[in-house]
Amino acid sequence: MTREPLVLGIETSCDETSAAVLRGERGLLGHVIFTQDVHRLYGGVVPELASRAHLRTVDDVVDGALREAGVGLDEIDLVAVTAGPGLIGALLVGLAWGKAAAWAAGKPVVGVHHMEGHLFATHLEHPGAGPPFVALLVSGGHTMLLWVPAWGEYHLLGATRDDAAGEAFDKAARILGLEYPGGPSIQRAAESGDPKRHPLPRPLLNRGERLGDPEYYEMSFSGLKNALRLLVRSLEAEGRLAEEVPHVAASFQAAVVDVLAEKTVRAVRETGCRRVVLGGGVANSRALRESLRRRLGEGGELYAPSPRLSTDNAAMIARAGLFRWRRGEAGGLDLNARADLPFPGLVRASGAVARR
Ligand code: KG4
Ligand code: ZN
Repeated sequence: MTREPLVLGIETSCDETSAAVLRGERGLLGHVIFTQDVHRLYGGVVPELASRAHLRTVDDVVDGALREAGVGLDEIDLVAVTAGPGLIGALLVGLAWGKAAAWAAGKPVVGVHHMEGHLFATHLEHPGAGPPFVALLVSGGHTMLLWVPAWGEYHLLGATRDDAAGEAFDKAARILGLEYPGGPSIQRAAESGDPKRHPLPRPLLNRGERLGDPEYYEMSFSGLKNALRLLVRSLEAEGRLAEEVPHVAASFQAAVVDVLAEKTVRAVRETGCRRVVLGGGVANSRALRESLRRRLGEGGELYAPSPRLSTDNAAMIARAGLFRWRRGEAGGLDLNARADLPFPGLVRASGAVARR
């Protein structure tokens, strides 16, 4: 019997230092995620502090994952490491570690695109979350709507023109005086709020309502953030901000979710495919999941990763690396990190995408 390959995954693109040992497509034997706490002091990630924290912890994090899996570095068949996009200094820490480990073990190393990792995360837990599907990737740095007829074939339907969805939550939290990361704090505050009390705009939702219009799938969140800022300013002037925070948080969350869910449902309508896969930190949003579930209705399939696999983690990097390696794409020691690494297999969908 042939043994399934053993992959060591490493992720250091932003503020999580993570390592995972994956056996085949789904056997997560060891997984450690260290979230850097220091950025909470600044309301956002400080790149230089992130790089230094990765340097301090990467050894222990990788050791921890190997120990948990009960395997030695010499038993690993492949090292998969995030090569981009992300903070360049942070990426280089993981990449250098991964290349050195691969060289020491005499094993191949493969560079992984961070967003392709997010696309694979759900599949680690749900075998049904495979192509064909419509994907909504929503993280702190990216917002993309994709049609995925097969792994490695990514048709970009729409993306944000400015802030990413997670970034919008983070900035909104800051404006409201809530903690970083913003998504979870806004969700918590919104629990006791009325989302209809302070109507906020739904950017690019009521323009471009016909397939083929440039705004049909495109998204934008910076105008919404400005509307929030104006609302907060006027509530502050009236001395009512503190009591209104839950309602404002609920209104903001509802506006972002409405845009994301409506654009996703448009893609479902066009492709005729009712399987939707979520990825990235914002996939954690309960409001987003509920709205999509409701809109997809009976016969719709919504797959979302568990909280641990929706935010940055090395298990998804190991899984995506395995896919790339099986396609013969392992790199050499000249592998480099790129802050703006292009998404492999991504094509901009023009006009109607093919139905399958
Ligand atoms: O994927 P991720 O861990 O990092 C990036 O690759 O950027 O995503 C982090 C983002 C943060 O902006 C955070 O505010 C957001 O995910 N997030 C949420 C929720 N949980 C995390 N946004 C909305 N609702 C949530 N429950
Ligand atoms: Zn991410």
